[in-house]
Parts: sequence; C-alpha cells; structure tokens
Amino acid sequence: MSNCLETNRQLIVIGNPGNKRTSFLQKARTRLGLPPAHLISYLDWLRYKGSPGELLRPYLQDGKQLPLIRLDSPGEQFEVERELIALGAVCAEEGNRMDPSTEALYQSAAALDAFHPLHHLSTAARISPQEARYLIQEQGRIYHPAQWFRGFCRLLHQIKQQAEALSPSVRWMNDPAEIALMFDKRRCHQLLTAHGVPVPPIPAALGSIGNYEELREAMRTGRMHRVFIKLAFGSSASGIAAYQINPSTGAEVMVTTIGQEYRDQQPVYYNAGSLRKYTDTTIIKTIVNWLCEQGVHVERWIEKASAPAALHKQVFDIRQLVVGGQACHRVARLSRTPITNLHLRNDRADPADIGLTPETIDRIEEIAQATMALFPSSFVAGIDVLLSRDSLKPYIADINPFGDLVYDVQFNGCSTYEWEMTCIYKG
Ligand SMILES: Nc1ncnc2c1ncn2[C@@H]1O[C@H](COP(=O)(O)OP(=O)(O)O)[C@@H](O)[C@H]1O
Ligand SMILES: [Mg+2]
Repeated sequence: MSNCLETNRQLIVIGNPGNKRTSFLQKARTRLGLPPAHLISYLDWLRYKGSPGELLRPYLQDGKQLPLIRLDSPGEQFEVERELIALGAVCAEEGNRMDPSTEALYQSAAALDAFHPLHHLSTAARISPQEARYLIQEQGRIYHPAQWFRGFCRLLHQIKQQAEALSPSVRWMNDPAEIALMFDKRRCHQLLTAHGVPVPPIPAALGSIGNYEELREAMRTGRMHRVFIKLAFGSSASGIAAYQINPSTGAEVMVTTIGQEYRDQQPVYYNAGSLRKYTDTTIIKTIVNWLCEQGVHVERWIEKASAPAALHKQVFDIRQLVVGGQACHRVARLSRTPITNLHLRNDRADPADIGLTPETIDRIEEIAQATMALFPSSFVAGIDVLLSRDSLKPYIADINPFGDLVYDVQFNGCSTYEWEMTCIYKG
C-alpha cells in the first residue's frame, strides 16, 4: 500500500462516537486543518432496520464514490457488545432461523463466517440473540467472548460487503478482512510463521489443545514448561494467563488477569483490575478449560528483557506503531509482572531511556514493518514486540488493528493520530 491513501480529505469513521478515540481523532484533524470526520456509530449500524449500508449513502461523492473509511474499536460500549453477541448467535449451518434484524444484515448465509475460518475451534455454548440483548452489564465481566468475536467478524464482513456494493472501489484505512485476521492470535501466528517473522513457538499444532489435560500433555511432550495461554481474540489483557509447571514436581502457577466466581452455581469470568496468582489445580483447570472452549492460543512464555536498575529491573515489551509501512511512535511498557499492558497501571518509558541501542531499535522497527507487510491492505497497527532476556531477540506477541491510541508520544512532532492523518493525505 502506498503511503498516500487518499487525496480527497474526507474520512468516514465507524466507531463509538464520543469516546476517547473519536475525540482524539477529531482533535488531530482540527489541528491539521482537515474537515471533521463523518461519524457513524456501530450501534446505529447494528440496530438498523433494513440494510445498514444506507448509513453510508449520504457520504457518496458525485453519487458514486465513498471517502476513505476508518473502522475504530467497537470496545467499551456495552450495548454494542450485546449486539455483537446477538449477531454471533445465529447458526446458519445448524439451520437455526435468524431473527429478522439479523437476517437483514446478510445477503447469504454462506457469507456469515467468511472472516472467521477458525470458528469451529470454539465449542462454547451460545446464547440466543434475545438472551444477548437482556444481558446486564457488570463491571469487567467477560461475556461470551467466542460469540462476541463471531459477531464482530460478521459485522466486519457485512460492513465491507455493503460499502463495496455502494462504492466498489471504496478504500479502507484497515481492510475489514485484515482487522478480523489481526484480531485472531492463532491466524496471525500461522501467517507470521509461514513468512519467517519470529513469533514465540507453540507447544502443539493449532487446534490440538482442547482442555487442561491436553495442555499439560502438550507442554510435557514439547518440553515447554512456561507458556502464555490467551483467549485467541482477546485484547487489553483480557483472557491472558502466564502459566508454568515445575517439571519435576508437577506443581503449577498461573498469573493472570482472569478472575472467576460462581453465580447460581455457574462459573463467571471477569477482568480483574490487578493480577491474580493461582496455584490450586481446580481453579487453574476451570480457567484453562474455559479458555479452550472459547478459543485458545498457547505459546512459549518468552523470558522478557528487563530495564536497568533505575527502573527497578522491571521486564518490558515495546508497543511499536507502524503507519503506511513505516515504524513511527513507540513506547516501552514496564512491569513487575509478566503482563505489561499499560492500563494495568504498568509504567511506561521511552525505549531510548531504558538503554536500547540504535541497533536493537532498528531490529524492533524491522520486525514490526515485516509484520505489517503481511497486511497489505492495512495502513496502521500497534505491534507488541517482545525482546528475549539474554539475546534481545525480538518476537511478535500481538498485532492490534486499533492499537494507535497511544498518548504522549510524538513522532516528527505529531501525536499518533496526527501522524496517521498527515501520512494519509500527504503527496
Ligand atoms: N509469549 C509471551 N511471552 C512473554 N510475555 C508475553 C507473551 N505473550 C504476551 N506476553 C505479555 O502479555 C501481554 C499481553 O499479551 P498480548 O498477546 O499482547 O494480549 P492483548 O491482546 O490482550 O494485549 C503482552 O503485552 C506481554 O507483556
Ligand atoms: Mg497486546
């Protein structure tokens, strides 16, 4: 993809208007003298009676060409979460009837899961669209993640289909198909492996770990005693566990963001605000089995590099942004725990301040750019790069299509969103 996506300066954003992302973006556009982006809300799209592509029609230029479209994160709005879970409920292959509002979203049942080829690896029971719409919000609770992701992939597919029906040559900041791919850690792992981009190795073939016993067996035969177990389509450290087994005693420890409780004798799962440490097999097994039912990605726990004494020798990884094929903003995320996501009250630092040499920074940039080259129809992503403790060898841990909301870092005098807007319209 060229660095210059669009000379016309209009932009459509499909997102959750009024959140920090849309306001940060509009601010960036104002500062650059660009017209405000047209905002379409996911909720309006999801609740549209009829063909929601109609929401795009007012922005057709000369009656036929849509401006560039940016899809934003659907997260942090419970009504959207509920609608996505409802959308993920339909089961065309089982012949279930769709509810009329969902049916309106599709031209053919075969298209339902085109962006989610691994849906068969999620075996969790699904709830009906009606049940989904009655879910009541509880802070931090993780509701039906496999069904949510299925719904999100269907939404992405439908947005692409309907936009292209209106305007066949419509251009995307990030193509919806590639957003679905970036979101699935298993597919990303396969893609990067196939192209020789370093990723933490996996203990067993994709799809072969379906429960706690199979995990333990895979770790034993793969001689991999420390692993990360991840909800395959999680983000913001939701559904992440660092897990280790003592090979001689069999004792186990899990450090995780996952909290678990019982309601009416049913287990429920939530994102704990601070990390939990479990050593009890019963709870570890319950959590692993839940992750496996939803859809799991397991990989080697890379022992991460640590910062100098002035930063308390905390381990770190790097969030590296790539825009238009070029590495730009980056931040080191430091933690006393194995999980470095910033919203977990971890520290951040400029990578230069933790003593990374220009050569190491070059290697981080190269691996991030090589990763983005595998997503030729995407303009921006935030890539999490791990550096191994001794050799500082870089590995890709995570590719975030909405990973550009990074505050207080500048590149060429621009914030992340300002830089994206500059690159899009330059030339
Ligand atoms: N294989 C790994 N080895 C060591 N640390 C890891 C590994 N995978 C993830 N982590 C740590 O866990 C954090 C969250 O994992 P990540 O895959 O980025 O999930 P999320 O999409 O939730 O951000 C990473 O930022 C990193 O600190
Ligand atoms: Mg991450």
